[in-house]
Amino acid sequence: MTAHRTSMIAHKPELLGQTVVLIGGSAGIGLEAARRARAEGAEVILVARRAQPLEQAARDVGALGKAAFDANDSTALAGFFRSLREPIDHVFVTGPGPSYKPLLEMEIAEVRHALSDHIALALEVARNAAPKMRPPGTLLFMGGTSGRRIDRGLGIVSAATNSMPSFVAALARELAPLRVNLIAAGFVDTPLSASLLGDQLQARREELSRTLPIGRVVGPGDVAALALHVMSNSALTAATFDIDGGQQLVA
Ligand SMILES: NC(=O)c1ccc[n+]([C@@H]2O[C@H](COP(=O)([O-])OP(=O)(O)OC[C@H]3O[C@@H](n4cnc5c(N)ncnc54)[C@H](OP(=O)(O)O)[C@@H]3O)[C@@H](O)[C@H]2O)c1
Repeated sequence: MTAHRTSMIAHKPELLGQTVVLIGGSAGIGLEAARRARAEGAEVILVARRAQPLEQAARDVGALGKAAFDANDSTALAGFFRSLREPIDHVFVTGPGPSYKPLLEMEIAEVRHALSDHIALALEVARNAAPKMRPPGTLLFMGGTSGRRIDRGLGIVSAATNSMPSFVAALARELAPLRVNLIAAGFVDTPLSASLLGDQLQARREELSRTLPIGRVVGPGDVAALALHVMSNSALTAATFDIDGGQQLVA
């Protein structure tokens, strides 16, 4: 009886036989998602700009493939997806980060770029990846919760991030039965946060550990776990999933 019950609840790998492309897979959230996808039986293909950390990450997780290029380079992006021989199940885009600058100090080209870069990249990824994807796979993009507040220091980031949920929902309608989803994170303790905060990183970690309802900072593993769930739960589409430990509720 006990043996039978044990076998009934034995964990079946959630992504067995599936392939996940991680654009931004050599560090932070993307790398952690690659690790977890491998643990759930998936093959992974990693993309990042810098070849050396990418090489290391691909070796660490046992990646099926890797490609070093800037995801904002449309020609390179199209060439990458064309070169893939295997069908893809999921694409997780964790590449470029935000640009913080006071609005009135921004050149007009910077404004156009900051407002459209995440959406333009998401659309280019969708256009090139969709023909290779099999339902019920998901395209999964990254947004943020901190941009929901209006704050002097956030500049254009609020306007840029607040357009993502509607964009993702509209794309999900067009691409169905493929799924499209968005993860909106607050502070996540990754190399990106370290580079943005510099010597204020430790103070920010301590402040958030004191003030967040969860009593600790959110790590890349937390976001990766959510990403894996969105990949494996085929009921989820056109949705935005917040993961910020309650940060949007506290000052
Ligand atoms: N960390 C946070 O607090 C936080 C909060 C909310 C949202 N997010 C969003 O989540 C995403 C991932 O953040 P993260 O903290 O995991 O960042 P991260 O630690 O800096 O990792 C970013 C990954 O993306 C790659 N990458 C960056 N720009 C790229 C480009 N143009 N083309 C191809 N690859 C690129 C990086 O490698 P290379 O540098 O070698 O290209 C690296 O592998 C970002 O979009 C960020 O805005 C992060």
